[in-house]
Amino acid sequence: MTELISIKDCSKHVDEKVKMHVWLTDKRSSGKIIFLQLRDGTAFFQGVVRKNDVSEDVFEAAKSLHQEASFYLTGTIHKDERSHFGYEIQISDLKIVTNNEGYPIGNKEHGIDFLLDHRHLWLRSRRPFAIMQIRNVLFKATVDFFENEGFIKFDAPIFMHSAPEGTTQLFHTEYFDTDAYLSQSGQLYGEVGAEAYGKIFTFGPTFRAEESKTRRHLTEFWMMEPEMAWMHQDESLDLQERFLAYITKQVLDKCQYELSLLDRDPKKLEPTTEGHFQRLSYDDAVKMLQDGGRDFKWGDDFGAPDEAYISEQYDRPVFVVNYPTTIKPFYMKKNPGNPKEYLCADVLAPEGYGEVMGGSERESDYDTIKAQLDEAGLNEKDYSWYLDLRKYGSVPHSGFGMGFERVIAWICKLDHIREAIPFPRMINRLEP
Ligand code: 4AD
Ligand code: MG
Repeated sequence: MTELISIKDCSKHVDEKVKMHVWLTDKRSSGKIIFLQLRDGTAFFQGVVRKNDVSEDVFEAAKSLHQEASFYLTGTIHKDERSHFGYEIQISDLKIVTNNEGYPIGNKEHGIDFLLDHRHLWLRSRRPFAIMQIRNVLFKATVDFFENEGFIKFDAPIFMHSAPEGTTQLFHTEYFDTDAYLSQSGQLYGEVGAEAYGKIFTFGPTFRAEESKTRRHLTEFWMMEPEMAWMHQDESLDLQERFLAYITKQVLDKCQYELSLLDRDPKKLEPTTEGHFQRLSYDDAVKMLQDGGRDFKWGDDFGAPDEAYISEQYDRPVFVVNYPTTIKPFYMKKNPGNPKEYLCADVLAPEGYGEVMGGSERESDYDTIKAQLDEAGLNEKDYSWYLDLRKYGSVPHSGFGMGFERVIAWICKLDHIREAIPFPRMINRLEP
């Protein structure tokens, strides 16, 4: 029997007769020969139908195909050095499943709003295909990395009663006869997990009512948040470095085809795989901005252009460490050597991408964190279970959060984060 294969496995079936199920992305014909551009969700390649090699019916069927027609085909795989993909199929038979006219996304240039309105179809095109494949590899690489490091995945809830990262960007919802918020971060629950199971990571959707239109903010995005009991900030930075090096290497090993579809130069990602990320203090980062002629005061938080400027000085991610306490959340541990700053770090990705991860050592002393809660104007009652973690078995611990779409945008070199998630949610977009 002829084997049913996917396009990505072509190389194992050169000169063999195979079956496939495919969709048509484009068609070109010149009298006696029809070139079909095909996709099957695993890759894109070309099928060739020659009038002299097939029955009249098959040739007519091939001629009748519209964009996004779906069909079964039988044919023989050949090497094709001229093509992007390296293989093509000489078609001997095809059987149409669906063949309708009028697919809205053609091969001409479309505006971004049109494409986003048709995201349910646009996802089939080469560029979204490549990004989603890389997203998938990054997801698996993340899970594998933390499993190898002895972590377990631990799920935080999405309906929340209180707000870990401050109250300004909360999505409010009714929850029966009380109020609830959508999670902005799973961290506080991750800290529960760390005291229960040692090393955990959460990975799921988080929500922020971001009202500004920027290239790097979604209202719904995926965050991965590891939390490590008995770990100080320096070891957490080592872990973060190993993590980014590992996942980048996985993309380079497994996604050369996808990177080439995106015209992404893989060489730009190589330094990251070596680790050795600079640990730049907030104070030195401020100096760097001022020396670069930027108008920036000590104590301010970095804006996107500031982060871009800093990250452009490096060929791999850079840690900016120890920010002033006034611009970071209450749960961080103060630097014993300088109580004006926290033991924290943001990771800025190169090529101007800016913050992709952020984390800190956590304050583990009961009285100190209670004071920091009060200072932040938060209600102790909402955090009573969190304070229990400092009462019973409290230990030094650290953690961080990775913005998954931020990392994807950098790895794929996207102009805008909206392309990093299948169905972006932004202030002006809730559909499809
Ligand atoms: O820096 P953030 O706010 O940190 C936290 O939420 C901590 N609780 C993390 C932790 O220590 N466990 O968010 C973490 C990351 C940022 O570095 C950024 O990459 C991403 O989440 N992020 C966003 N990504 C897309 N759209 C948004 N609106 C984002 N806001 C934050
Ligand atoms: Mg942050």
